[in-house]
Amino acid sequence: MVDHLLAIDDVNEDFEDILRWAIEFKRLWKQGDEVALNFLPLDTVAVGSIYEKPSTRTRVSFEVGIQRLGGSALTLSKNDIQLGTSETIGDTAQVLSRFLGAITYRCFAHDDVEALAEHATVPVLNALSAKHHPCQAAADLMTILEHHDTTENLTVAWVGDGNNVLHDLMLACAMLGIDIRYACPDGYEPAEDVVARTEAFAKLNGSSVIHTTDPIEAVNDAHVVYTDVFISMGEEHLTDKVQAFDGYQVNKAMVQHMNDRWSFMHCLPAHRGDEVTDWVMDHEQSIVFDQAENRMWAQMSLLTYLVNNGAWAAMKDFMGLV
Ligand code: CP
Ligand code: NVA
Repeated sequence: MVDHLLAIDDVNEDFEDILRWAIEFKRLWKQGDEVALNFLPLDTVAVGSIYEKPSTRTRVSFEVGIQRLGGSALTLSKNDIQLGTSETIGDTAQVLSRFLGAITYRCFAHDDVEALAEHATVPVLNALSAKHHPCQAAADLMTILEHHDTTENLTVAWVGDGNNVLHDLMLACAMLGIDIRYACPDGYEPAEDVVARTEAFAKLNGSSVIHTTDPIEAVNDAHVVYTDVFISMGEEHLTDKVQAFDGYQVNKAMVQHMNDRWSFMHCLPAHRGDEVTDWVMDHEQSIVFDQAENRMWAQMSLLTYLVNNGAWAAMKDFMGLV
């Protein structure tokens, strides 16, 4: 059976190792370590990435990361291929599996990435659907581990829409035993099945999951505050939605309620002046550009894990992570 990454809990069993591998590989690669520089688990492998929506970080981080692992990256804009117009997702999945070692897919409906995975015979990585953004969560938790000494008693607060980014962030936090508090206005809560999965992980790992409609209650003494745009891709017609987010802007007054060592996180792109102010975005405790960079390292780890598990195990051994 092929392993896919449709939501971050698909890699629950090895999630911490995947993140530790990414952190260590990044460190070794940056210091010019020969083994890391010559580690090419995607040698002769082509990875195709289908985009139904625009992307800056996901597209560039996948293309560069795949090349650094010795593979070749093909970016397939939906308008350039037959998907959904004259060919079904299932047929597309079977055809692409004959050429590619893995497929990444950014789509609207989450059902579509599920359908692609069902018919593909190579790993499928969800590069953002309306429901999940697992590659983002892997980079986010990698960044949290880099910036905070311990996950013990660490609280991550979400202030904003109960959207795709929150879904995988809350799952990922609970998978690592990190407390999560999310402030979402009435009517914009995360999906019930994702909350239930998060609560199950939190119970197992002894952490908490708290929902409030009060952003200050969410950020009070928290170590991380995370927000995202109020209107996601595909929701541009919901112009009235922003009214529900009055008081949800992450600004100087809000972060003053946090632990002194607060960090600000955002998946980007940010709408400066809407969900976050320049003061917070540009503050030295904002770690948004580390997050963006870590998309690449986290995805390199995920690709090695999913596409060439043998190489992943060997590198884990080399790095002393076993
Ligand atoms: N955070 C993120 O997925 O960014 P892009 O939309 O630019 O890929
Ligand atoms: N919630 C946003 C995330 C963009 C990276 C969206 O889906 O548009």
